[in-house]
Amino acid sequence: MNAEFFTSEDIAQAVAYVRSQTRHQPQVGLVLGSGLSGLADAVTDADRIPFSRIPHFPVSTVEGHDGALVIGRLQGQDVLVMQGRVHFYEGYSMQQVTLPMRVMQRLGIHTVILTNAAGGINPAFHAGELMLISDHINLIGMAGQNPLRGPNDPTFGPRFPSMTRVYDPQLRDLAVKTAARLQIPLQQGVYMCLAGPSFETPADIRFLRVIGADAVGMSTVPEAVVARHGGLRVLGISTISNVAIDNIESEAETTHQEVLETGKLVVPRLTALLQEILSALPAPGEPVGT
Ligand code: HPA
Repeated sequence: MNAEFFTSEDIAQAVAYVRSQTRHQPQVGLVLGSGLSGLADAVTDADRIPFSRIPHFPVSTVEGHDGALVIGRLQGQDVLVMQGRVHFYEGYSMQQVTLPMRVMQRLGIHTVILTNAAGGINPAFHAGELMLISDHINLIGMAGQNPLRGPNDPTFGPRFPSMTRVYDPQLRDLAVKTAARLQIPLQQGVYMCLAGPSFETPADIRFLRVIGADAVGMSTVPEAVVARHGGLRVLGISTISNVAIDNIESEAETTHQEVLETGKLVVPRLTALLQEILSALPAPGEPVGT
């Protein structure tokens, strides 16, 4: 890595390695968050590529984030599944955290589905529910850690990309209709990404609620920003793994164990929803055929 920022040559090396290790030409990317990596088991004809073998790829250090690309077929689509991801709190730069999005872009992937585990801030949310991400608040980006900081290579995207519609309206509509058809309750809301790794104080949670967040986590936003910059369509789904605690008198405590355990419980519902979305996923520019 060239000091702080990847060059297009670095990215090309990662892409060339991935291409050399798979028979498939993935069109759709899927990023699996904490406790959700079991979804990759549904991929057929899978080529599995550990992150540690891919040039420049960051390697996940967190329990619940097995690090590998699983490339194969899922519901009629050629998919690249990221089984696990890396986070800013692990000490990686925003550029490292989002390198996989650049690799997906150069591999020709047109749509990426980002999943995560999040704490519910909206009082209407319950642990174990799914939330469709309608928009996000990039608080870390506002504080100076935007993954697009640094030299801009216009072959990836513009210097000043719009973020008005990060989460594709057509794909959100597809997710809502699919969830309704499957009778899977689907909340909708604004996802807030914090740096972590400490969970929030109750005062943090009340602050985040006031500024418009419905759920809080430690991922997804940097990836969504880079994917949009690169022209990929983005769909984001959070699993509400716990209800964020907004009162210091509360006896409850948020733990990573709780996040992983609730993740396991929602996997069947999330799997069903994602499989149906994938099978109805339109190619870019095509209408949704539900
Ligand atoms: N806060 C931040 N990140 C999280 C949480 C939370 O409560 N739950 C899962 N990821």
